[in-house]
Amino acid sequence: MHNQYINSIAIIGAGTMGNGIAHICAMSGFSVKLMDNSIEQLRIARQTIENNLKRMAQKQRITPDKVSSSLARIQCCTNIKQAVVDADIVVEVVTEKITVKKEVWNEIEQEIDPKRLKQTIFATNTSSISISELAQELKYPENMIGMHFFNPVPVMSLVEIILGKKTSEKTFKTVERLTTDLGKTPIRVHDFPGFVSNRILMPMINEAIYTLYEGVAEKEAIDKIMTLGMAHPMGPLRLADFIGLDVCLNIMKVLHKGFQDDKYSPCPLLIKMVEEGQLGNKTGHGFYSYNV
Ligand code: 3HC
Repeated sequence: MHNQYINSIAIIGAGTMGNGIAHICAMSGFSVKLMDNSIEQLRIARQTIENNLKRMAQKQRITPDKVSSSLARIQCCTNIKQAVVDADIVVEVVTEKITVKKEVWNEIEQEIDPKRLKQTIFATNTSSISISELAQELKYPENMIGMHFFNPVPVMSLVEIILGKKTSEKTFKTVERLTTDLGKTPIRVHDFPGFVSNRILMPMINEAIYTLYEGVAEKEAIDKIMTLGMAHPMGPLRLADFIGLDVCLNIMKVLHKGFQDDKYSPCPLLIKMVEEGQLGNKTGHGFYSYNV
């Protein structure tokens, strides 16, 4: 249906964000190859996508037919070559570490058919890593762009589109169109630490953790102040658990290092909780407790 400009989308990494992106791409009619090193992770991703599609059908957001047609468009694989060889766009959603992302991008570049490489778009779903830095070693840095999705992907309507120093206008236009075709709103920003979203969100979360650390109020009170007083759907401490405290800490470190400004120092309580493995929903413990 969209085959004039994009036929096939490769998604590298099948964690929470990867499966959410696969879900919306398939639901919007694109052919998806979802790649992960772990077969177990792929199994969980497929099951999650199926459950979320069925939930949408139950709520009459989509027809029951769309559940099966969307699932049929997703091919899972454990091999990068198989995923990217004929992709028009590769969306990388691996661990938020620059060394890991660079390694994966080198491999992706090697595995794409050389005749197609110049036309292939390289999108990274990073929450704060510099697009220009990731693009540095690529043959076609003009093809690299940031596509920052938000969790839960099927629900959140924003995609923050980050242009690196060399990103071409052509790349931006294609990704802007794709984002709209996915039913999301693209918003263009420049490549600064934390971009716009996390430069604003993370200091707010960090400050909420400081108010708990300094004994200004109990955790429930802090969260209720922001849900009832500011109409946020979740309080900042519950949101930190939802995002992952390790992710929050990493982003604070990127802001602190990138701006060389102590106003971004991560709260000692955040550091302590991450050291103790209390990472939020995914570990069952954070500011609150969860069933995992
Ligand atoms: N797939 C499909 N649908 C889903 C879903 C999923 N994964 N998760 C929730 N939904 C749907 C539900 O079915 C429900 O649909 P309905 O409106 O038709 O009933 C709707 O979303 C609301 O879900 P629930 O009723 O289960 O629960 P809530 O009303 O409490 O909403 C929430 C849950 C959508 C997560 C809401 O609390 C929220 O918006 N929280 C804030 C999330 C947020 O800020 N995300 C951004 C995090 S930052 C980030 O991702 C960037 C990174 O760089 C840090």
